[in-house]
Amino acid sequence: MRSKINIAIDGHSSCGKGTLAKQLAEKLDYTFIDSGSMYRAVALYFLENQINCANETQVHSALSEIRLEFQKNQTTQRFEIFLNGKSVENRIRQMDVAAIVSEVAALSVVRKEMVRIQQELGADKGVVMDGRDIGTVVFPDAELKIFMTADVKVRAERRHKELVASGSDATLEEVTNNLTTRDRIDSNREDSPLTFTDAYRLLDNSHLSPNEQLEIALDWVHEASINDRIS
Ligand code: DC
Repeated sequence: MRSKINIAIDGHSSCGKGTLAKQLAEKLDYTFIDSGSMYRAVALYFLENQINCANETQVHSALSEIRLEFQKNQTTQRFEIFLNGKSVENRIRQMDVAAIVSEVAALSVVRKEMVRIQQELGADKGVVMDGRDIGTVVFPDAELKIFMTADVKVRAERRHKELVASGSDATLEEVTNNLTTRDRIDSNREDSPLTFTDAYRLLDNSHLSPNEQLEIALDWVHEASINDRIS
């Protein structure tokens, strides 16, 4: 049997990192972890408890109250995130959370705690994790690192469609503004900014179907697994 590797998928907001990560996890029988859902769950807690990101004392005490867990949904067979015992998988995708999550994710004290949990989850390999700093900070030794991007117009249209389907009345303009703002904050923050390096395979999926992107990524998995066995 081929030994398991870790796969890091980083890239811009709403370019289908989660879709690819889920596809790969299903195909390879790996565990998919959406690291962004952890930052979103923290942001939701901050929102519900009126925590001010600029107030260090409030942030510290909030973090000590937050318990995050992933549990497998027996119907979908996918991992869902629980915040203090309650599934928040759908709630964290709404625009009010998206509006503050990058600010929350820029806080070093929050990142330190999330990275610790993420590294524990990947310790035994066989994990596909998507985010912004997975290949640079969380799993710098990941055998395969993929950097995803897509045209901002394409990304905003895809995300807008998903939100409308879930009952949101967000406009395309609001979604576009949110994506560009998040990309700017995520790429320019001091702590672990989203950064493309030549350790990544670049995947621009503006004009690729989900199946086409999966085929490309599976080829890379194959190469990475072979290289892993040789080295
Ligand atoms: O992947 P996502 O859009 O659900 O992520 C939500 C936010 O969390 C995103 O704007 C940046 C932040 N994030 C991060 O800073 N590091 C990660 N590993 C994952 C997400």
